[in-house]
Amino acid sequence: MESASMLYEGSKLSVEVTDGIAVLCFDAREASVNKFDQATIDDLNQAAQALAHADDVKGLLVKSAKPAFIVGADIMEFGERFKASEDEMREWMADANRMFSTIEDLNFPSVTAINGMALGGGLEMCLSTDYRVMGEKAQIGFPETKLGIYPGFGGTVRTPRLIGADNAIEWIADGNPRRADKAFKAGMVDAVVAEDELEAAARDLLKRAIAGEFDWQARKAEKKAPLKLNKTEAAMTFQTSKGFVLGQTKGMYPAPIEAIDRMAKAAGMDRDAAIKEETEGFIKLAKTTEAAALIQLFLNDQLIKKKGKKYGKIAHTIEQAAVLGAGIMGGGIAYQSAYKGVPILMKDIKEEAIDQGLEEAAKHFSKGVERGKMDTAKMAEGMSRIRPTLTYGDFGNVDAVIEAVVENPKIKKSVLAETEEKVSDKTIVASNTSSISIDSLAADLKRPENFLGMHFFNPVHKMPLVEVIKGEKSSEEAIATIVDYAHRLGKTPIVVNDCPGFLVNRILFPYFFGFQQLITDGADFAKIDKVMEKFGWPMGPAYLSDVVGMDTSQHVEEVLAEGYPDRMAQDGTSSLDVMVENGRLGQKSGSGYYKYEKDKKGRPKKTQDDKAYELVASVQKDGQKDIEADEIIDRMMIPMIIEAARALEEGIAETPNEVDMGLIMGLGFPPFRGGALKYADAQGLATVCDKADQYSHLGKLYEPTERMREMAANGETYYGQ
Ligand SMILES: NC(=O)c1ccc[n+]([C@@H]2O[C@H](COP(=O)([O-])OP(=O)(O)OC[C@H]3O[C@@H](n4cnc5c(N)ncnc54)[C@H](O)[C@@H]3O)[C@@H](O)[C@H]2O)c1
Repeated sequence: MESASMLYEGSKLSVEVTDGIAVLCFDAREASVNKFDQATIDDLNQAAQALAHADDVKGLLVKSAKPAFIVGADIMEFGERFKASEDEMREWMADANRMFSTIEDLNFPSVTAINGMALGGGLEMCLSTDYRVMGEKAQIGFPETKLGIYPGFGGTVRTPRLIGADNAIEWIADGNPRRADKAFKAGMVDAVVAEDELEAAARDLLKRAIAGEFDWQARKAEKKAPLKLNKTEAAMTFQTSKGFVLGQTKGMYPAPIEAIDRMAKAAGMDRDAAIKEETEGFIKLAKTTEAAALIQLFLNDQLIKKKGKKYGKIAHTIEQAAVLGAGIMGGGIAYQSAYKGVPILMKDIKEEAIDQGLEEAAKHFSKGVERGKMDTAKMAEGMSRIRPTLTYGDFGNVDAVIEAVVENPKIKKSVLAETEEKVSDKTIVASNTSSISIDSLAADLKRPENFLGMHFFNPVHKMPLVEVIKGEKSSEEAIATIVDYAHRLGKTPIVVNDCPGFLVNRILFPYFFGFQQLITDGADFAKIDKVMEKFGWPMGPAYLSDVVGMDTSQHVEEVLAEGYPDRMAQDGTSSLDVMVENGRLGQKSGSGYYKYEKDKKGRPKKTQDDKAYELVASVQKDGQKDIEADEIIDRMMIPMIIEAARALEEGIAETPNEVDMGLIMGLGFPPFRGGALKYADAQGLATVCDKADQYSHLGKLYEPTERMREMAANGETYYGQ
């Protein structure tokens, strides 16, 4: 028996040879995960060279010493790399691809043992070996299209050659990870075994390949040859899937389309030519504003998570929560808390409200059962975590109370004062108010340090954002505890300072004001909806007004007009006012800008309604006018950008990252545009200011701040790039 010898040792991985078997082990020093950063690529390059020149190696086993194989690329580092020139990028990618091809071309068999997770470049690493054995709990996938790019280390080349073009397109275009059973079925891996048998199974497979039981040369050859598709089949496959993906992405996300196009072009090519094709598409995508925006979102998310972790250190754990009000929001909060495992008392003053709240929760749980997410026992367990009550009897033991009673300052104040008497002096009390100042609600409280805002969005179980509103006197512990609770509910909390409209509604309503002015000037609201949906919003402003409810919108408008009279006080009657006067409150009343009828599944279906046009005409003094799409976009988006800038300047949110994430998660701002501030960066602040000046006659909502003008003059951006 020979002794082990170290063939290569770097800071990210090592290669040790024992009895002719080389084990390449990813184990990044002083890090909790393996990721593909430049240092790993450098190490792997050297390891690949050492393997190619070793004369005592008969087979290669690739594995990881971390709980996850490789989690993917280092996005922070690669994002920077995308700013290099095209030639530099081409060189860098050729270098990385040579390394994977060197591994693929080794003249002995190779197997990867995949544990935990192999994503993006991690999965491309696995594909460069001849065989893959996967732990049954592991997941693999290509998340690149979610970042506006696609796999660029041979992923679009090796995947279709291994599992066929149809499967490859699905894996690459949707960006979702797959569990072991799916991966095996598709043919991405050759075996799935229990985690504790992984290495032994991979070694066994390797030994059998070395012994000639498996035709590993054929495996290599298959991945290096053109795709096994004739021209007609290829045309069918690629054209059909392109049509499907275009339908899904509405043409707003170029990455999956580019992936399909390049795979189609490279179908008849051998590996090396196909990789060149892949590189060209990758470089093109890396330079798009969509990729820049989506990569920034990933980084924003990380920043928010990092802040969340910091808060986690001083948060009190909530063992028992309570919600006041079993209405739309209270019921939703109770369900979400119960679903996520935090017991909650649900108090209302009306028996019927409680019954309705429980019914809502049961409906959501049942849907989970229908979809196979849980069984009936789990549903019963979940429901038992909601304890309905009409009294404060058990409030002495609750760690946090979320107040979600009607939006009336007087009622809220009295309910909060009452609550303070019933809970312990450590209990955190948060209001889900959507518009009332947190400081004003805190004014008469005995323990304002324990009080703050926790603003959920409707519907609670679907909307990912929670605004955590810091009052002047809210303690850091109170903030941390509510941030932590939001995390436990599966939400993304963004901490903001108190101001009228808080962060999200304050920035949304200037957009709505832009909408109302467009209507007054004669624009067709249905056209505005179409234009803004094409811009990327999930629904246009007229439709959104209908969904939010006209009375609710009107109420928030009043709050904002009072808070920012210089720019948000409106003169004259808007089409929204006319709708309210005529009882057209939107979806909930059956009509607003559109008419709603129930479809077969009982969901509201919107149709055009002449009556709405008649009513709208009453505010269009100069009649109807066809306004161009570009003007519509600018008149809607400029007030939003400027208000976002103001909120940042006033420190309502700490960073542009949080402002933008708030808009994306709270409002559905088009993610591929990265949020209002990222969108401003993409246009350039000078352009934004110039455009705003063209509309200065529309009022102060179109007036850039001094700081914006200064940034425009200095060529600065919000994200400092
Ligand atoms: N609906 C939304 O889209 C939305 C979104 C975000 C925030 N909010 C805010 O959430 C809060 C609740 O809104 P909603 O839409 O759920 O209202 P809702 O009218 O559906 O529910 C309010 C509930 O509070 C109950 N209630 C009244 N006084 C009470 C008291 N003293 N003790 C206990 N319960 C009492 C009522 O019986 C009712 O069931 C409001 O502050 C609202 O502004 C609403």
